[in-house]
Amino acid sequence: MTTLHPRAYKVTVVWTLGLLFLGSIVHATESSLACPDWPTCFGSMVPEMTGGVFWEHLHRLVAGGLVMMFALATWLAKKETSDRPWIFRASLAGVGLLLVQSVFGGLTVIYQLPDLVSTTHLSLAFIFLSLATVLATATHGSTGSGSPPTIEGFGAGEGRRLTLIAGAGAILVFLQSALGALVRHTDGGMSCPDVPLCLGQVVPPLVNVQITSHVLHRFMAVIATLVVIGLYRWALRAEVPTRLRRWIAGAVALVLIQVALGVVSVLTILAVPPVSLHTLVAAALLSLLVGLATIGTRAASTVEQPELVETR
Ligand code: HEM
Ligand code: HEM
Repeated sequence: MTTLHPRAYKVTVVWTLGLLFLGSIVHATESSLACPDWPTCFGSMVPEMTGGVFWEHLHRLVAGGLVMMFALATWLAKKETSDRPWIFRASLAGVGLLLVQSVFGGLTVIYQLPDLVSTTHLSLAFIFLSLATVLATATHGSTGSGSPPTIEGFGAGEGRRLTLIAGAGAILVFLQSALGALVRHTDGGMSCPDVPLCLGQVVPPLVNVQITSHVLHRFMAVIATLVVIGLYRWALRAEVPTRLRRWIAGAVALVLIQVALGVVSVLTILAVPPVSLHTLVAAALLSLLVGLATIGTRAASTVEQPELVETR
């Protein structure tokens, strides 16, 4: 039987990445208050798309498209996953999350960008992306008849270890991203104008929230990078299938690119391209780590319940 929900979840993940990137451009181009009202823009759903209105209204339109896309995926999941009710329930929670997120987007406009509301807007976006990634990975290869196929040559022990390390990496990257959003929204991006030192010191006097969060953001970058490299070293030692090892190598590449983008953001005094890409690559890295952790859980649970295993 052809099932459509796995594809719909994958499209949702890619769409969310695009939307996140656009949201970051909205902030970087100082277009956040280009539409003074919400949900309309200058009282219209089709305003003149010029200047900042282009970025802000495009972000809203793409967000509307995402809500519709994900509602469709949820409806498909209800029809096609009656044997795994948790998928529909998790998907329904995602629809709720998207609606809350849209209200937060509106609040950023109505209350003129309070730091915490903007930081929450990014954090909720990353939580939704993680949920969509879990759904896309958990349903990958599903034919509608029982559980999707497992990965050949991958044991339960390796599966659990993969979930543990990739999951720890994902949590770190999420916290690091929320902290980054705080740096951004409290205008702390240039509070350390030099790199790798901050104001000429490894740890300068932590006199305000801007310097404190920026310094913490740099230290946490080192820890997150080490965890992702640790995951790759484990994959080299453990009997991890080659395809999966390539994805893990992809995570290493992304974390290194992310650090480089952070450095370039500071050196270019927060130029639009590096800061916007810095948001996009953080999101892609988070999504990849969440996907890997989900693959680990899938492998562990299918190997432990052999009657569910259906190899290709
Ligand atoms: C119609 C609903 C929405 C509105 C009105 C809206 C509005 C905005 C505004 C005004 C900004 C700039 C915020 C700032 O400068 O502080 C922004 C940024 C952003 N938006 Fe939305 N948004 C909406 C929906 C969404 C959705 C559904 C997502 C993702 C699932 C999302 C993800 C983001 C992200 C990641 C940023 C960048 C935040 C940052 O740089 O820290 N938005 N949005
Ligand atoms: C694993 C590594 C890293 C991750 C996951 C990460 C993630 C993020 C995220 C998600 C944001 C918020 C973007 C937004 O609100 O749209 C941010 C902001 C920022 N990050 Fe990072 N980051 C990392 C490493 C670094 C490094 C190494 C540096 C500098 C040496 C850096 C410098 C910055 C700066 C300056 C901002 C604020 C940008 C602005 O004000 O527009 N980041 N980071």
